[in-house]
Amino acid sequence: MELSGNTVLVTGGASGIGLGLAEQFVQVGSTVIICGRREDKLKEAQAKYPQLQIYVCDVADSNERVALFEWVTSEFPALNVLINNAGIQQRFQLQQAPEWETIHNEIAINLDAPIHLATLFIPHFMQQAQAAILNVTSGLAFSPMAMMPIYGATKAAMHSFTLSLRHQLSGTPITVVEVIPPAVDTDLGGVGLHTNATPLPEYIASVIEQLKAGSLETTHGFSANSSRASREQLDELFKRMNQPR
Ligand SMILES: NC(=O)c1ccc[n+]([C@@H]2O[C@H](COP(=O)([O-])OP(=O)(O)OC[C@H]3O[C@@H](n4cnc5c(N)ncnc54)[C@H](OP(=O)(O)O)[C@@H]3O)[C@@H](O)[C@H]2O)c1
Repeated sequence: MELSGNTVLVTGGASGIGLGLAEQFVQVGSTVIICGRREDKLKEAQAKYPQLQIYVCDVADSNERVALFEWVTSEFPALNVLINNAGIQQRFQLQQAPEWETIHNEIAINLDAPIHLATLFIPHFMQQAQAAILNVTSGLAFSPMAMMPIYGATKAAMHSFTLSLRHQLSGTPITVVEVIPPAVDTDLGGVGLHTNATPLPEYIASVIEQLKAGSLETTHGFSANSSRASREQLDELFKRMNQPR
C-alpha cells in the first residue's frame, strides 16, 4: 500500500496504535483525520502534529457514526482510507452478572462500529481511484483470554467480517487489510496493563513495513503465530493462556 497521497480517517486516533499509524501517514504527506471521545486527547495529538484534523465522536452511537461519515466526506471528499481502530477491552467474570449495558458497549465499539462504518464508506470509496479499509483486530481473535470474554468474541467476529468484506470487494478499487496486533504497550484496558508488551514504536514500524510491502494481514510476534496456528496449536495456546481457576 502506498502511504502517501491518501486522505485517511483513523477512529480512536488520539492514542496508542491509532495515533502511531496516524503519525506515519502524516509524515509522508497524507491528510489525516482522527476521531475519539476525549477532546483533550485529540487536541494533545493535534498540538504535536498540527496537520492532524480532529473530530469528537463516540463510535458506539450509530447516529454519531452517520454524522461522522457525513461530516468527513463533505469536508474531505478525497477521503479514501478508513482505519477502523477504536476499541476497548474489559475484564470481568460472567458469573458476577455484569450489566448488559457494559457488555453491549464493548460490542458496539469493537464490532458494530467498524461494520457500520465500513458499510457507510463503501459507496464513497467506490468512487475513488484507490481506497482501503483497515480493520484492527487482535491476536486474541484466534485464541481468546477468558478473562476478557467479550473482547475476544468481538475480535474473532471482526476477523470473520474482514474475510467476507475482502472477498466481496475483490475487483473493486477498495483493498481490505486486517491489522492483527499482538499485545502492544498502550493504555488499552487501563493504564499500565500492557507495560510489558511490545513497545509501540517497534510495533508501528513492523505494521508500516508490512503495509508498504502490500500485506493484506499484518502480524507481529504472538499474532504471527496465533493467526496461522492449527486447531491443535490453538488448543495448546488456549490452555497456556488460560490457567485453570
Ligand atoms: N494494545 C494492545 O495490546 C492491542 C492488541 C491487539 C489489538 N489492539 C487493538 O488496537 C486498537 C487500538 O487500541 P490501543 O491498544 O491503541 O489502545 P488505546 O490507546 O486505548 O486506543 C483506543 C482508542 O480508541 C478510542 N475509543 C475507544 N472507544 C471509543 C468510542 N466509543 N468512540 C471513539 N473512539 C473510541 C480511544 O479514545 P477515547 O477514549 O478518547 O474515545 C482511544 O484513542 C483497538 O482496536 C484494540 O483492540 C490492541
